[in-house]
Amino acid sequence: MEQAGSRVVVIDVLRACSTMIYALSQGCKVIHPCDTVSKAKDLFRQKVKSLGKDGVLLGGERGGVRVRGFHLGNSPEEYSSDAVRGRAVIFTTTNCTRNLTAVRSPKEVIICSFVNLHTVVEYLSKEDADVLLALSGTDGQMSLEDAVCGGMLINMLSDRREVVLSDSARTAHVLYLHYRRNIRQALLDSSHGKRLLELGFKDDIGFCAGVGKYEIIPRHVRGRVVC
Ligand code: MLT
Repeated sequence: MEQAGSRVVVIDVLRACSTMIYALSQGCKVIHPCDTVSKAKDLFRQKVKSLGKDGVLLGGERGGVRVRGFHLGNSPEEYSSDAVRGRAVIFTTTNCTRNLTAVRSPKEVIICSFVNLHTVVEYLSKEDADVLLALSGTDGQMSLEDAVCGGMLINMLSDRREVVLSDSARTAHVLYLHYRRNIRQALLDSSHGKRLLELGFKDDIGFCAGVGKYEIIPRHVRGRVVC
């Protein structure tokens, strides 16, 4: 996916972008997104040779739950300072890391969710460059929570600079206006949110609905997500 001249903002509220943002806020050195479990395992073996066993962790999910043999799953708060400070994380998730490895931008690829939204908007408002919102979605379908987050970004950005919206951006904005007084409800109403509740990840939903908690902007640069 490439858009000439655009800065790309990848959004995955539940949960991969929220997890990456939290991990980096806790002192994780670098995240290596991989599109498949086998690539993640191969890269882990390589990194152990250079960084040692204590220097690198395997994290991610399939079907929402931690991959067997991985150190960490995809619940943001697993990536606490105790777990990740000073370490590299090899990370693979069902949708987001696959999308992330496919996205190209001539400018930059920014990682965004509700938890760092204010900082991303402040940054985007400083320039007039086109912005492409890449919503991760679920299994190729649009996700309500990602659209509402994109819509909130549009709403905040339009207070700071002129914006011209595509039909899909306008749709996301309208969805945000519907949920603006209760962002958490959008996550609870979404099919992904319902599935996470069934799996017992209620706390992750509360975490991922926390708007503007972290003031960092992770970027995907040549296969590495760093701040
Ligand atoms: C994904 O990338 O598919 C998601 O982050 C899935 C999840 O909530 O674990």
